[in-house]
Amino acid sequence: MSEPANPQSQTPAKPPAASAVEMTELVLPNDANLLGNLLGGRMMHWMDIAGGMAAIRHANRNVATIVVDCLDFRHPVHVGEIVTLKAKLTWVGRTSMEVVIHAYAENPMSGTVILTNTAYFTFVALDDAGKPTPVPGLTPETDAERQEWQAAAERRRKRLSNSCRTP
Ligand SMILES: CC(C)(COP(=O)(O)OP(=O)(O)OC[C@H]1O[C@@H](n2cnc3c(N)ncnc32)[C@H](O)[C@@H]1OP(=O)(O)O)[C@@H](O)C(=O)NCCC(=O)NCCS
Repeated sequence: MSEPANPQSQTPAKPPAASAVEMTELVLPNDANLLGNLLGGRMMHWMDIAGGMAAIRHANRNVATIVVDCLDFRHPVHVGEIVTLKAKLTWVGRTSMEVVIHAYAENPMSGTVILTNTAYFTFVALDDAGKPTPVPGLTPETDAERQEWQAAAERRRKRLSNSCRTP
């Protein structure tokens, strides 16, 4: 397991809670496909925004999305439902950060809430010239966050060895 602190950043390490984001959206007709369900692309856009905000908060820098893992669509989301996206950092490297994003759909008439999507987005912090720049360390505080860190480190190892990126 890597050290949570990043000695190359000038900013002290922060816990995941310091940058966590919760974002809420109402699904409107313009967000839907021909079946009346939320477009997958719109959900991915919202996840990217929520995850990006968490990464910007952590890094205090602009960030770029570099890779997305394990994005799943477990249940359709319908027009009129309320989507809540929760984003939290799981791991940081030197310039990159992994953020887990969970999306929940709420039927506001019944009050039913279900987990509809999960994904891991990796962002890279950028300096003023648009080059990767060091980010603060991450200090997991709970057992779940420590487990997430270890799982994220393993995901990164697999991701880098199986990258789809062409030379
Ligand atoms: C983000 C960008 C500047 C990074 O440039 P780069 O030359 O790949 O940078 P590096 O090789 O130094 O890698 C930067 C970090 O990304 C990580 N990385 C690179 N490829 C990766 C991959 N496939 N999976 C996970 N991490 C990856 C590196 O390990 C490094 O992390 P670390 O510093 O924590 O160890 C460049 O890839 C880019 O501009 N991509 C386009 C981004 C974009 O347009 N996104 C959509 C809109 S936001």
